[in-house]
Amino acid sequence: MPRKIILDVDTGSDDACAIMLAYLHKDIDLLAVCTVKGNQPLKYTTENTLRIRDLLHADFPVYKGCPGSLVKNIVYPRILPTPNADAYDEEGNKIHIHQELFDLPASDGEVEAMNAPDFYVDYLMHASEPVTVVAVGPLTNLAVALIMEPDIVKNIEEIVIMGGAWNITNATLAAEFNIYDDPEAAQRVLHCGAKITMVPLDATHTAYISRDDSAQLRKIGTPASLFAADLIDLRILVHDYAQPLEVPHTCALHDPLTIAYLIDPNVLEDVRFCNVEVSLSGLTEGQTCVDQRAIQENRNVHFAFRGNHELFSKIFIDAFRS
Ligand code: RIB
Ligand code: CA
Repeated sequence: MPRKIILDVDTGSDDACAIMLAYLHKDIDLLAVCTVKGNQPLKYTTENTLRIRDLLHADFPVYKGCPGSLVKNIVYPRILPTPNADAYDEEGNKIHIHQELFDLPASDGEVEAMNAPDFYVDYLMHASEPVTVVAVGPLTNLAVALIMEPDIVKNIEEIVIMGGAWNITNATLAAEFNIYDDPEAAQRVLHCGAKITMVPLDATHTAYISRDDSAQLRKIGTPASLFAADLIDLRILVHDYAQPLEVPHTCALHDPLTIAYLIDPNVLEDVRFCNVEVSLSGLTEGQTCVDQRAIQENRNVHFAFRGNHELFSKIFIDAFRS
């Protein structure tokens, strides 16, 4: 039976790849997509999501979510992240990691009338069977839904989060972007009582995607596979410039790794069930503090320390052949 999922996105280029993988793969039943601000303001993450739906000629419902974080930056920016999503080509022209999305045709698609947190509560309180929630942006929508109705957890089979960091960070010296952007929301989700699997940067960077992979996608030759190849090649440019991986000319395609895990759990390696807490202030704001002691309490997260790049690239590319 295909895994029923709700996908929560802040559509940027890797979110777009997660949406495409979830929609195209036979083992996933994409029930709905919820949008949140993150990579871009909500207006653009929602528009980008609708553009990807158009590209796929899909009809999954899109629910617009939260334009801001729970409490962060209400008064002042606490710590401004280091911009590392931009690169510059040989001529010095700026390249933005999500640039390709801006070049897609504007969508005339509509979002649903209900907002994302209300959708979570309404759907999950009436679902006939548990659903997996995959969150690949800041966790604000899910946190608001949990505040409104904690009992939605009863119908959540698992929450899979792209977020967090052990050794590799990107937003600040201590934090990964999705958690950093709304640390209070993340802390609330990590303690909601559902099964939680966290796919941090340490996993996404070791499950890297290469130019050979984008070349294979180009050979498939569909509009979706060609667009995915463009996104990957652009991300490789930015990673080489701003966030170089151990293997040169590769990129971390963060978000679809959560979907690949639902298709084949072996794509995540060295997964440890441990206590994970989110730092909410000071220099480490947004840091995922992962308890590695043999004797520890409050274990709440299955934290993946590594990803398998051969298996991930195979799962991702094969989905575009269908
Ligand atoms: O830190 C990487 C995460 O932040 C990815 O989900 C990316 O899309 C951004 O949301
Ligand atoms: Ca994302």
